[in-house]
Amino acid sequence: MSELNNTALKILGNGKGILAADESTATMTKRLDSVNVPSTPENRLLFRETLFSSSSMKDCIGGVILYDETIKQTSSKKNTIPELISDTGSLPGIKVDTGAKILAGSPDEKITEGLDGLRERLKEYYKLGAKFTKWRGVYNITKSYPSKLSIHSNAHALARYSALVQECNMVPIVEPEVLMDGDHSAKECLEKTSEVIKKCFEELIMHKVDLKGIILKPNMVLAGNKSKKKITNEEVAKLTLECLKSSVPSEVPGIAFLSGGQSEIEATENLNLINKHNNTNFIMSYSYGRALQQSALNNWSKDRKDIDGTQRIFNHRAKMNTLASQGKWSKDLEI
Ligand code: 13P
Repeated sequence: MSELNNTALKILGNGKGILAADESTATMTKRLDSVNVPSTPENRLLFRETLFSSSSMKDCIGGVILYDETIKQTSSKKNTIPELISDTGSLPGIKVDTGAKILAGSPDEKITEGLDGLRERLKEYYKLGAKFTKWRGVYNITKSYPSKLSIHSNAHALARYSALVQECNMVPIVEPEVLMDGDHSAKECLEKTSEVIKKCFEELIMHKVDLKGIILKPNMVLAGNKSKKKITNEEVAKLTLECLKSSVPSEVPGIAFLSGGQSEIEATENLNLINKHNNTNFIMSYSYGRALQQSALNNWSKDRKDIDGTQRIFNHRAKMNTLASQGKWSKDLEI
């Protein structure tokens, strides 16, 4: 087994998933503003350190995606954040894209940037302890989008990023996120997500990326959040499996979904159903940001000294999602 394949399986094996704590400072400021906490480097660290010191890190969280600021911070116990995470048995990872910018030629769409100087930045992150990385491409569904241009250019960037990351001995998380914003149907989401993912693999193969050493981080197939035609959780699971079965090559070891604005319970319930019906060889797990952190953040914002209370809430969500990634979750386990 290759080293990269081994790393991917270490992150997602045994029902483990990923904590996406890689919000940029701008996004984290939005999250902290929403709970009336000043967004200072100290507060951002304090909340994140509270999560990374939780007991569920050992059994549930196989990897944590960090942001540039956090990977360089020191914990209150004076070890580095990558050390704090590694000491729990989990692996530190790092977001390496520099954000989604207006796509020239199709200004209503976005292209993710960050390739210039990436090889050098990767070497630095590797030295800081990173074992895997993340890059997110983002796509909107409307009558005319995502355009061929956005599908092609984001896939190309994801593939160039992945090749550079593997060259530096880290596992790239490939994240093409088709947003749930809009009034599109689940069927349209299925079609567009399949097209986007297929294009990503076409480019990954062209760039000679070892597919056994990546993790795919896709959206689930959902109806748009303004769509009148809602679908059931069972249908979400069925369509998501249909999409991935037809567009992901069998060499890929694992798929870790983003939560994308679903509520905590919805994200857990859908993941559970996907695993109940999983008729593929892919590990299907989670790489959640909001769906792992929201309730913990609410509690923490009310009393920043209540470390135990915040960790209890985070541990519960991590445990529920780890059960869901094995198809063993049920609603009556929720508190
Ligand atoms: P959400 O689970 O909140 O969508 O965040 C995951 C992520 O990493 C988005 O890039």
